[in-house]
Amino acid sequence: MKKRNYLFALLISISMTLVLMVDAIAEDPAVSRTRDQVYMLDTLYKTAVVLITDKYVSDPSVFSAASAAGALFQTMKDNGFHEVRLIGLTDVLINPAVNNPMDAFEEEVKHKLLSGEATHEEVVTIDGKRYLRKATAVPVVMERCVMCHANFAGVEGAIGSLVYKVPLIE
Ligand code: HEC
Repeated sequence: MKKRNYLFALLISISMTLVLMVDAIAEDPAVSRTRDQVYMLDTLYKTAVVLITDKYVSDPSVFSAASAAGALFQTMKDNGFHEVRLIGLTDVLINPAVNNPMDAFEEEVKHKLLSGEATHEEVVTIDGKRYLRKATAVPVVMERCVMCHANFAGVEGAIGSLVYKVPLIE
């Protein structure tokens, strides 16, 4: 390799290191804190849905864990804590009028999660207040899901997403 090429490679690696360092410094602590909270909520909601489905939802006529979660999400919203909804990423939805992607962000969520990413997020400002919108993947976690969602059979990746809108912890 010519000397000039070495110099070029060195410059590239220095600038990449600088970009990474600036990124780390620029990370907004309010966003990190809120991300942690979403991670906690996501663990709570997903564990509850799986436990309810496993222990109580024994046939398709039973009130589904998704319906119970919807009522829970409404209570959290009514109390002003945060918003969260379960959207479907497949072509066949049980409740398409409500659970289809609703806006550009949710369309992007569908695109990213179906191409294999685990999460997708953005920070938005509404009426001067900042929010983290974050979507996490919902895969077919247990055989019993197929009991009511025949189209989930054999699907490996995400079939849905929990989409959060949480006020930033400033
Ligand atoms: C007892 C039947 C039943 C079972 C079992 C079930 N679901 Fe559902 N699911 C529903 C119903 C009913 C809705 C619509 C809820 C609503 O919008 O009020 C739904 C909605 C959904 C949605 C939103 C998209 C849509 O189709 O409307 C996803 C994603 C989803 N379920 C995933 C799962 C997963 C993952 C499992 C397994 C852990 C599962 N479901 C098990 C009945 C079921």
